[in-house]
Formats: sequence, structure tokens, C-alpha cells
Amino acid sequence: MYICHNIQGLCNDLALFAATAVPFSAATALKTFRLQLRFLVPLVAVLIAAAYVAVPLMDQVTLRWFSRDLNNRGALVANTLSDSVAEAVMAGKPARLQRLFDRTVQDERLFAVALCGTDGRLLQRTASFPATLPCAVADELARQAEPRLALTGGAVHVGVHDVMGQPVPGPVLQFGSAPAGTADDALTDPDPAASVAESLPSPVLMGRLVLLHDLSFIERRSQDTRRYLIGLIAGLGLVIALITVVVAQLSWRGWVNGARALMRGEGLLSPLLSGSSSAPELAPFAADLRARLRDMEDEFRRSQGPAMEWTAERLRTLLHTQLSGDQVIVVSNREPYIHERNAEGIVVKRPASGLVTAVEPVMRACSGTWVAHGSGSADREVVDAGDRVLVPPGQDDYWLRRIWLTPEEEQGYYYGFANEGMWPLCHVAHVRPVFRESDWEAYKAVNQRFADAVVAEARSEDPVVLVQDYHFALLPAMVRDQLPQATILTFWHIPWPNPESFGICPWRREILEGMLGSTILGFHTRFHCKNFLETVDRYLEARIEHEHSTIAFREKETLVESYPISIEWPGEATLASWPSVAECRQRVIQRLGLPADACLAVGVDRFDYTKGILERLNAVERLLEKWPEWIGRFVFVQVAAPTRTALEEYRSFQERILRVTERINQRFGRPGYQPVHLLATHHEHDAVTELFRAADICVVTSLHDGMNLVCKEFVATRDDLQGVLILSRFAGAARELAEALIVNPYHVEETADALHRAATMPVAEQRERMASLRSTVREFNVFRWAGRMLADAGRWRLRARIEARVKRHQIG
Ligand code: F6P
Repeated sequence: MYICHNIQGLCNDLALFAATAVPFSAATALKTFRLQLRFLVPLVAVLIAAAYVAVPLMDQVTLRWFSRDLNNRGALVANTLSDSVAEAVMAGKPARLQRLFDRTVQDERLFAVALCGTDGRLLQRTASFPATLPCAVADELARQAEPRLALTGGAVHVGVHDVMGQPVPGPVLQFGSAPAGTADDALTDPDPAASVAESLPSPVLMGRLVLLHDLSFIERRSQDTRRYLIGLIAGLGLVIALITVVVAQLSWRGWVNGARALMRGEGLLSPLLSGSSSAPELAPFAADLRARLRDMEDEFRRSQGPAMEWTAERLRTLLHTQLSGDQVIVVSNREPYIHERNAEGIVVKRPASGLVTAVEPVMRACSGTWVAHGSGSADREVVDAGDRVLVPPGQDDYWLRRIWLTPEEEQGYYYGFANEGMWPLCHVAHVRPVFRESDWEAYKAVNQRFADAVVAEARSEDPVVLVQDYHFALLPAMVRDQLPQATILTFWHIPWPNPESFGICPWRREILEGMLGSTILGFHTRFHCKNFLETVDRYLEARIEHEHSTIAFREKETLVESYPISIEWPGEATLASWPSVAECRQRVIQRLGLPADACLAVGVDRFDYTKGILERLNAVERLLEKWPEWIGRFVFVQVAAPTRTALEEYRSFQERILRVTERINQRFGRPGYQPVHLLATHHEHDAVTELFRAADICVVTSLHDGMNLVCKEFVATRDDLQGVLILSRFAGAARELAEALIVNPYHVEETADALHRAATMPVAEQRERMASLRSTVREFNVFRWAGRMLADAGRWRLRARIEARVKRHQIG
């Protein structure tokens, strides 16, 4: 019952059903009888048909037999009488002939006898011979296949037989038409012909004997035969029916028992076991049942979620048990909430940032402080004297500490070194990194300012500091200098290149040294970890333990580990707040003026050259070229949140995308149809959810991406299990989301084909893929990401404490 262990509920139900089914109650018997009628009714019908055909056939055959019989009998009678008749005729003794005839008809089956002369006249007849039957007619009837004559008393068989005799000299009796038995018996000589036989000439025809045989006995026999035949058929039918019913009943019981045994789970494993003795006729049923159980097992497992699901609560517990409830400080460039001033007053915005999407739920769970650049136009208006504000607005779960940057600092540190240097350096997306000395200086200074802010926010000497991303490569070592006991977890949200690519950075050593101030250094994938270890190996004098994935540098150890980032799985309340998929679709169709039957593909990204937006537009264009039937129906909506527009590289990229969009729309658009909708504005979370739920396809074609959370968010919104995800193989997420259609975005044809395949994918296949994707994202959620890092940090701290105690003992 291996399957039952896994889907106990289901199997219990099945077993209960099997156990509680009443064995052959009255109702069951009635049902069984009804089933048996299926055999019996056709059987009875066939038997009736057989009787219907067989009885007349039998009649015909017996009649033919009797006719043949009567003919033979007639011939026998005629032969027997022949000599006597011939003699009587020759002797001219009609009375004698009459007596002979009368004696002959005493046989109950011979109805009448008559003698016709060679000239066709009736010479002599018994009283029963119909006077109205002339010799010619009798002759004619006798030649027929069924020589029957209907008389008032019943039908008779007519037979005419030649009477041969020796002609003798002298007068021949001339028969009159006197009634039988009244003629004078003149035939006195008993055998005058015998004495002269030797000398007589060859026999000649003396007349024709007409015999009328009684047919009534045939009819009586025929009726008897008919009765026997019907009786036989009925009896046979009864026996067959009985055998059928008994065999069917036994088979049915056997089948039901076998099926019940299967329902109880017996024999379901039989194909896996040798020497199984399960009934072969049940094998297909067992196979179907096994397959269905596996499907249900999968569905059940998915519906249950992982055995120990990572939740906000579990993360909080972990923080208290393993990190003694120590303070958590997050550092990132982008802040989770931006206060902006517009005409209506101050509004709060959520930035388009994967980092914020992932880290914000963790902070809500852990409380603590988040240190970030205050970039909103109204940010200063809402903070307290310590530049702090409680967020999320209205919930006040944690503190947001804002750092103010001058435009020059922002230009050098953020736009310059981080986004013109580090970003292209790590993404290797065919955009040249730019390294300026001034940017580097600004980067160092800003890192120091953030590090100081972290130290200022720390309420103990060993806080847990979560450093986010490439903006703060130097910060871990800076914090370490001031808080040597701190547990510093640095997570690198973007890819890490190979040592050769990274080697072009003029300050590669400083960057590596800064990062190695971390206790734990996290990347999305093992591949990025490996690249980092090799880079350190190439450019620093450090001891690398590949087995434990640690780097010892200046007597400090750093664990380098992969922690695939994710999103918060939507809870019941969130699900309930979403409009239905149909409603979302209706709204999007109306808002964008799309055809009602549109096949809607969406892309949601920051307007960044690493996201492969150009490549996906090329794929859409190719799709419409290759499958023109999509023109008028296929619509691609690209949400592109403006980003880093101060940089020339980004501006020219965004202009290029606009031009390509226009070209495609001119080429394939028509009144009422625009194939590509480029929405180059910031979209709030709800609007993105609505778009995801409205879409048939979500396209993620990053040229290189650490993880990419857009694809995970799309999957999370599709509780209807519909929609297809197309995912770049160069996004870290492709390693987890194998049920997506994985593409190489540089290969336009492949991506266009994937679009077509997604647009024509059967509902059942979508369901299968989406259910599996959802179970992965649900299990590997953001709390697991943070939980694994914090658990590793907890173990690390415990080890450090033990080492310190050991040292104390040694000194003491
Ligand atoms: O991809 C890494 C990442 O840090 C994301 O988390 C974030 O979306 C982006 O880079 C930074 O964007 P921005 O420069 O707008 O903050």
C-alpha cells in the first residue's frame, strides 16, 4: 500500500467503499439480473428467429420426404396390383377388378384407386375416387413436384403408375362406367395366362393406375414434428440461458471481487513484483487505476504543499531560536517604499525591483531596520529626526532608515560605478563596462556612509546584517572593521562572471576583499558560487576549501553558498482579494482595446538591456511572419518600468525598443489591431497581477539574470492553473522552473516557435505544467531563501561562540 501511505485520504475512501459495499443484497441481485437480461434477451430473440425459420423449413423437408415415400409406395402398390389388374382387364372382369381395388383401399393410407385406359378414359374406380377427377388431370398432377390435390376431406397425394400386361387373343372386357362392385364377375378362369406365358409376346401398356394417398397423416406427423422441434429449441434455449447466467454470475462475482481487491490496494503493485497472480482480465483496469492514483497522488501532494512549508512564522521562530532574536539590519540601495509628492499630496510607491520583492516580506517577518537610499521626492518629509520611518505604511512592521545622497554621489556611486561598471561587468550582456576613477571614489565613499549608518543602527555588537547586491561590494569589510562580531550575510542578486571577465575591473582586488568581510556570501546558483571561488583563487591570496565552499582570508572565513531567491507565496487573504481571471482579462482587453479573442502574451520588466526585450520583439515579429494566421489575434503587451534613464546606454536602448515596436505595429497592425503594446510606465503591484492573470503567455527572455522573479510572480498569480511561461535559459530561475518552455533568447526562431507552441498549448498540458511550477515556487519561497541563510548564520555563530569558549579555556 505504498500509494496509500502517500494519499491516505483517498485510499481510505476507496477501502471504505470496498469494505462497506453490501455483498449481493436484493438491490445488487436486481442489478445483476438486469445485467443478465443483456445476455438473455438476445438469446431468446435468436431462438425465436431460429424457430421461425426452422419450422416451415422442416415442414417442407418432411413433405418432400413423404412425397418421395408415397411415390415409392405407390410404385410398390402398382407393381403388386399390376398383374392382377392386367389379368382382370384382359379377362374383361370388372367386378374382380373392383374387388381388388376395394381391398386395396382398405389400407388407411390409400384413399382411392382408379384405372385409366390407354386412351385416357376412366375404366374403373373405387367409390372414394372423386368422380370429377379425369384421368388427364390426374396424370398432369402426378407429374408435378408436389402432386397434391385438395379434396373436401383433406389433401391427397396423386400417383399415376403404368400397368403392363401380356396381350391375349380373344375378346377384351370393355369396362363401362358401372359403379364399383355391381358388375358381373365374368372372370372364371383363375389363371389362363400363366399357362401360355412362354409363348406370349412382350408386355404392353394395359392402362394407368391412379392412386390417391391420404395426406392427412403427413399433416399430423408434421404437426408432431413441429411440436418436437419447438420443444427442442425451447429446451435448448433454457439450457443455454441457464449456463450463460451461471457462468456470467460467476465471472461477474469474480470480477467484482477482483475489482474490490484492487480498490483495497491489493495487487496494485503486482507489476512491480515477480510471480504476481492477479487476474489477467483485470490488468488493464489495474493499470488505469494505478495511473489515476498516481495522478491523484501528485494532485494531493501539490495541494498539501511541502511537508514543512517555509512561512513568515517559521522564519520568525528560527530568528528567535537560532539567532537569539538578534536585531536584523538590511542594507540595500533601493528602498522598499518611496514617498513621492504629486498634485494630490504624498503618495507611497513600491519600486520595480526584484530585490525589494524578495527582501520586504522577510523584513516584515523579522522586524528590524532597513537602511536604503531615500530617493523619493517626499521621502524627507515623512522621516523622524533620525531619518527613520515605520513601514509598511499603516502596518509599521519595521524601520526604514533613509540615507540621503547628493546628486554627485548618486551619479558616481549608483549610475557610474554600480550601473555602468559592475552591472555590465557581471551580466556579460555585450555592453561594455565603464570604469571611472571618480565613480570608484564615490562608490567607496557611499559604501562607507551606509556602513556607518549600519553601525549606528546596531543595538548590539553582533547584529545580523543582510547586505544586498552589487551596490555594496565594499560594505561588508567596512562593517566588519567596526563590528567584528556581526554576522554579515551578503547576497549578490546578479550573476557573478568568470575570472577572466571579472579581471577587467581595475579594482577587482578591493571588491573581492570587501566582499570577503561577509560571514556568508550568497549567490542564486552553484554556478555563480563556483565563478566567485575561482575569481578569488585567481586574484587573492586566500585559502579555499572547495569541499566546504569556504574562503579563509586574513584569518577570517567566509562561507560561499547558493540560495535561490524567490517570492512570498500568496496567502488566502491575498488570493481572495484578486479579481477573477475572467474579470482581469475583461479589464485588460477593455483598457488596451484588444480583440476579444486575443491571444495575450505579456512581458513585465525594468526597461533594461539585460532583459532581452529586443529579442522578444524580434520573436513576436517572426511569429507573425511565420504564422500569419496570428495577425489580428496575437497581442504582446510589454510593461517596461523606466530605469536608469540618466544613462546614455539605457536611453538609446529604450529609444531603439520604441522604434522596433513602431516598425512591427506598422508592418502587422490594422484598424482595431495593434500587435505590440509598449507600456513604458511604472505599474503598481496590483496592475501587474491583473495583467498576469489576464495573460495566456508570460515571456521572460533575459540575456542574463541572477534569478528573475517576474516568472515566479506570474506563476503565483495563476491559481486557475492556466497560462504558459516562456523562460530564458540564461535566467537563474530556469534551473528551478523546468516545466516552463525554456528558450535561448538569442535564437529568434526558437523563441518564435515557443510563442506559437505556447499559444496553441492544450489546456490540459498548461494545467499540468502550471501545477508543477506552482508547487515548486510555493515550496521554494522567499522565507525558505532567508531561512536557509539565517539558519546557516545561526550555525556559524554557534561555532564562533564555541571556538571563543575553547580559547578562553585554553588561556585559563
Ligand atoms: O537584479 C538585481 C537588482 O538588484 C534587482 O533586485 C533590481 O531590480 C535591480 O537590480 C536594481 O534596480 P534599480 O537600479 O532600479 O534599483
